[in-house]
Amino acid sequence: MPATVLSPDFVNSYLDSHLGERQVNKIQHGFPSPRYWNELSVPLEEIGDDRRHLRAAVGKSPVFLYVGVPYCIKTDPGKCGYCLFPVEEFQGNAALENYYGYVEREAEMYREQMEGSVLAGAYFGGGTSNLYRAPVYHRLMDMVRRLFPEISEQADLTLEGIPQLFTREKMEAVRDSGMNRISMGVQQINERLNSLSGRKQTTKHVVQSLEWARELGLSANVDLIFGWPQQTVDNMLEDLETLVSWDVHDITHYELNVGGPTDFALNRYHELPSTLANLEMYRAGRDFLLDRGYQQLSTYNFRRPGDPAARDFREGYLPRFEHMDTLGLGYAAITFFGNPALPSGRSWSFINHRSLSQYKAAIDHGRFPVERGFRHTPDDWLMMLLFRSLISTEVDRTQYRAAFGVNVYEKFATVWDALAERGYAEITPERIRLVGDGAFYAPMISALIAEERYRELREEVARRKKEESRRPAPATGVPLPMPATGVPLPMPGVGSGG
Ligand SMILES: C[S@@+](CC[C@H](N)C(=O)[O-])C[C@H]1O[C@@H](n2cnc3c(N)ncnc32)[C@H](O)[C@@H]1O
Ligand code: SF4
Repeated sequence: MPATVLSPDFVNSYLDSHLGERQVNKIQHGFPSPRYWNELSVPLEEIGDDRRHLRAAVGKSPVFLYVGVPYCIKTDPGKCGYCLFPVEEFQGNAALENYYGYVEREAEMYREQMEGSVLAGAYFGGGTSNLYRAPVYHRLMDMVRRLFPEISEQADLTLEGIPQLFTREKMEAVRDSGMNRISMGVQQINERLNSLSGRKQTTKHVVQSLEWARELGLSANVDLIFGWPQQTVDNMLEDLETLVSWDVHDITHYELNVGGPTDFALNRYHELPSTLANLEMYRAGRDFLLDRGYQQLSTYNFRRPGDPAARDFREGYLPRFEHMDTLGLGYAAITFFGNPALPSGRSWSFINHRSLSQYKAAIDHGRFPVERGFRHTPDDWLMMLLFRSLISTEVDRTQYRAAFGVNVYEKFATVWDALAERGYAEITPERIRLVGDGAFYAPMISALIAEERYRELREEVARRKKEESRRPAPATGVPLPMPATGVPLPMPGVGSGG
């Protein structure tokens, strides 16, 4: 693989011009951005064969499972004012359970491909997965056990939800079904700031859900967002202080991603803290949590050791190099499947339909409900893993050498050197570590490293468009509502609550 040709001048002027710009997490949870996933016929049979061959070579291999739900309760403003995920308005339990029946059928389609693998973790996200009534959690885990008769003892099996929808009955069903963790999207504990999102959540809902989780032995993560309209460093620290006082061991502290036709982007942009104010918040939040005994596991994740209910689970931002397999089931779910040993074009990212009717229609016709995907070259796959490593704040050079035969320092030397000079990175023979404000800038650093490849991809798109415009217009892929900028992709462990 060739070394990058990013010149020191380019790197430095890129950093100078981007340090003050709003962070856009376009690529941190997947590279390249889904807007370049242009392959409309993803060869699921070929992927299934590759899965089986790799498994035959390495023995039992770990798989991560993501199961998505489209539905969310209606809010005013819509989509909580800030959300960039594809979601649909909740239409009642009958529609939800009808949808779930489709997910079970989709899971069945993958059963053979998954034979012999071990479930390393599962994330039931969305959308709003705690909209399900109590009995459905048992059905969910029954489906998981049919697909993965073997589940790792260390597996985090996480149900994501919003505080106001948890009930004791649901929480008990979550525990009794075999799930062992909840991730709660709280965003703001401060009720005034929370009300800007239209979410009818009170502090009482949050405390009560955490108490139930503790009573039932479920580990619990809380997602907060900083960089919220009208938020100050003091408001933010008050929320963190509250979580610490409630003994929450697992905190995800996201920076607000602003984009798309959301209320915050359209009507509250002027109320948002500036990028530099966000940086201040990041520093203050990080220092506050480190002071109180939390460890920083990634740009956003902080965990305090000693939680009796927690397992040592970090997947999602610590990539396994030899083999990475995340199966996404359900509406808009994403699958990542790749391996450095595969030939070019045989590692994949793909997304299920973001139109519920198309998702269901595909399954009704016996087809995998995949909307589109991206074939990775080995270099693309390396970048995808590298950007995840950056989110975890640490690049293990030895692993890259072993997996890709590449000196990852030399490959992007101009970038690492410029970061080290600015105090954002430390480079040793074993690793490259983001330090100081470096972790805050991980998305921007990834965008810089990807700059050249994005230029190529843009050129490819332009070339394809030109060719298409010369041909008479056939009925090809319908232009689909791609996620707007900065979408944290629904994945286990990242972008969805740690
Ligand atoms: C997509 S939500 C799904 C879970 C649940 N429906 C909720 O609202 O909490 C998962 C997490 O993504 C994060 N998230 C969603 N939109 C975001 C945005 N625009 N910027 C930063 N984080 C965001 C929130 O912290 C949220 O808890
Ligand atoms: S933030 Fe959560 S509840 Fe709100 S629209 Fe997004 S997924 Fe739904």
